[in-house]
Amino acid sequence: MLDVGFVGWRGMVGSVLLERMREEGDFAGLAPGFYSTSSPGGPGPTDLGFETGRLGDAHDVAALARHDVIVTCQGGDYTKAVHPRLRAVGWNGYWIDAASALRMEPGTVLVLDPVNADVIAEGLASGRRDFCGANCTVSILLMAFAGLFRAGLVEWMTSMTYQAASGAGAAHVRELAAQMAAIGEAVQGPLADPATTALAVDRSVREVLAADGFPTDRFGAPLAASLLPWIDRPIGDGQSREEGKAFEEGNKILGIVGPKNPDPIPIDGICVRVGSMRCHAHAVTVKLREDRPVDEIEALIAGAHEWVRVVENTPEATLAGLTPAAVSGRLDIAVGRIRKLRMGGEYLTAFSVGDQLLWGAAEPLRRMLGILRSHLGKVRPATEAEAA
Ligand code: HSE
Repeated sequence: MLDVGFVGWRGMVGSVLLERMREEGDFAGLAPGFYSTSSPGGPGPTDLGFETGRLGDAHDVAALARHDVIVTCQGGDYTKAVHPRLRAVGWNGYWIDAASALRMEPGTVLVLDPVNADVIAEGLASGRRDFCGANCTVSILLMAFAGLFRAGLVEWMTSMTYQAASGAGAAHVRELAAQMAAIGEAVQGPLADPATTALAVDRSVREVLAADGFPTDRFGAPLAASLLPWIDRPIGDGQSREEGKAFEEGNKILGIVGPKNPDPIPIDGICVRVGSMRCHAHAVTVKLREDRPVDEIEALIAGAHEWVRVVENTPEATLAGLTPAAVSGRLDIAVGRIRKLRMGGEYLTAFSVGDQLLWGAAEPLRRMLGILRSHLGKVRPATEAEAA
C-alpha cells in the first residue's frame, strides 16, 4: 500500500483534489494520513467515505517522513519551511506539490501528463523525487495547444489571459462575490423602474465601485464590472511574475530547455484578471513554423489528448461551449475561434478556456499520484465493477 500524507487538503485546490480522488476511487489501496498546520489533533476530512482519524502536525518532520509520498496544496511558504527539513533528515520519498516554490529548481519535474508524460517518465527513471504542478494558466495553455507544440509548429506564441478570481485564492473568490453583491444591491432600485436609463444604471454602478466600503482589500481595486491587467509582482522590463511563468514554466513542462534542446520557445503576453469565478481563458496568437490549413490545425489540436475539445468557430457554438460558464467544473479544455489572421497564413489565432482548479491545479497532482503508484508497482486493486 502506498502511504501518502496530505497537507493543505482544506483549501480550494486541496478540496478539489480530494473530491476528484473520491470520485475516481483513488483512495482504494492507499494508506492516507491527513495533516494540518493550524489544527493538529483535530478531526480529519469527514466526507471521503472512510475513517480519516486525527490530523497530524504538518510541521512534524518525523511524522511526515514515515510516508512514501507527501502531497501538498498548502502553499509556497509551507514548502520552503518543510521540504528542506524533510530532505535534511534523509527522507527519500516523493514530494507532490501545487505551489510554485520548487518549480524551477533543476531537480524538480513539472507535471502535466497529457502533455509531458515523457518528461515525467524520464524524471522517474532518473530518480527525481520532487514533482510540482505548474502555474494554472500555463497548464491550461499547454493542455489547449499541446498538439501544435508536439507537431513542432510553434515558432512563438503570445498568450493574452483572462484569469478567474479562484486563481488568486479563496478569499479573492469571496471578495469578487461580495463586490457583485454590492453592485447588485446598488442597482436593485434603478432596475426595478423600467424607465431608468442605461446611463443611470451605469452611474449607480460607477458610484458603488468608487464608494468607501466597496470591498477591495484582496484585489486592491474593483474586479466586478471591471478587470485588472496586472497579476502578481513586477519582475522587471515591465513584466509581471505571472507573465514570466508562461515562458519559464511552459518550456520546462515541454522539456524543451536542457542540454539536448537549448532553444526555448518564446511565449509571452499580458495576464489579466477578469470576473470569472474558476476558469482561466487565453486569446493566443501563434506564429507557425509553416503555413498549414485550418482543418489540419484543428485536427492537431483535437488529437493531442482526450480532454481537448475543439469548438466550431461560429457564434452559436462559441457562446454555447467556449465560455467559463460552460466549462466550469468540467475536465474538458475548450479551444475555439481558430482562424488565420490577416497577417498571413503562418499567423494563427485561437481562444481557450479551462477550469483552473481542475487541470490548472488539482488534476495534474491527482494523476501524478496515479503515475507514481504504477511506477512503484502499488497500483490500486480493481474495483468490483472493473473486475466483473
Ligand atoms: N497565479 C495564478 C492566478 C494561479 O493568479 O490566477 C494559478 O497558478
